[in-house]
This record gives sequence, structure tokens and C-alpha cells, in this order.
Amino acid sequence: MKNELINKAMSAREHAYAPYSGFKVGAAILCGDGTVISGFNIENVSYPATMCAERTALYSALAQGKRDFKAIAIIGSSKEPCYPCGVCRQVFAEFCDKNFVFYICSEDGSFVEKTFEEIMPFTFSFTTN
Ligand code: THU
Repeated sequence: MKNELINKAMSAREHAYAPYSGFKVGAAILCGDGTVISGFNIENVSYPATMCAERTALYSALAQGKRDFKAIAIIGSSKEPCYPCGVCRQVFAEFCDKNFVFYICSEDGSFVEKTFEEIMPFTFSFTTN
């Protein structure tokens, strides 16, 4: 399964729209029902409007009615593993449990495997009185 996710993330990366940074990223998320949905980064001339690859994949899955997620592969374009940015970690906190798995890949497909809890401990949450 992890190989399928990484291969799909790699294919998605080819379609990334990254004319400003030149840094193409692909992602593929595994849903609870076995569906795999991919995404890539989509940049904008107004830089903050840029969307990361992993959020594109997650939002695309949400838009298809998925709510249960197991794992994601993220692949950038450098020798270092492409760890998800802080904004993406916060978004994943909303929809994924602590055992959700990240395959964090270098450009050639080699990867480090981390749980959500490992890369995002002590998530923000609140209760009202
Ligand atoms: N990017 C991602 O797509 N995912 C990450 O986890 C890190 C950064 C994108 C955003 C931007 O298009 C480019 O990489 C450079 O920051």
C-alpha cells in the first residue's frame, strides 16, 4: 500500500503548478474505504494564496465525501524529505487521528515514516463551559 501511495504522489507531482518556487510537490491520501486521492501544490502570484499538495489531496477527498483517513505520501523535489508545513499539520489535526501515517518522501521516493502524533504533538483544542 505504501508503494502505491508513493507512486501516486510521484505521478501527481508532475501536474504541480509551481511557477514561482519551482518546487513541485505531490501527495496521495489513503481513505478508510481504500480509496486513494492525489493532489499537488497550486501556487499563486499572490503567494499566500498558494495551496500545498497534501492539503489539495485532503480537501479533494473531503469534497468527495470522505471523512476517514489512514495515511498520506508527500513527495517534494529535493534530496531532503518533504515534511508537511505547519499550516498543513494544523489542518490534518482536524481530520486525522494520532495514528494517521505520513510517508515523507525525498524526490527519489525514499521516505521516512511518521505518525501524526510524532510530527504534531500537543494539538490545540478547547471545550466550552
Ligand atoms: N509545499 C507543499 O506543497 N507541501 C509542503 O509540505 C511544503 C511546501 C509547497 C508550497 C509551495 O508551492 C512550495 O512547496 C514551496 O514552498
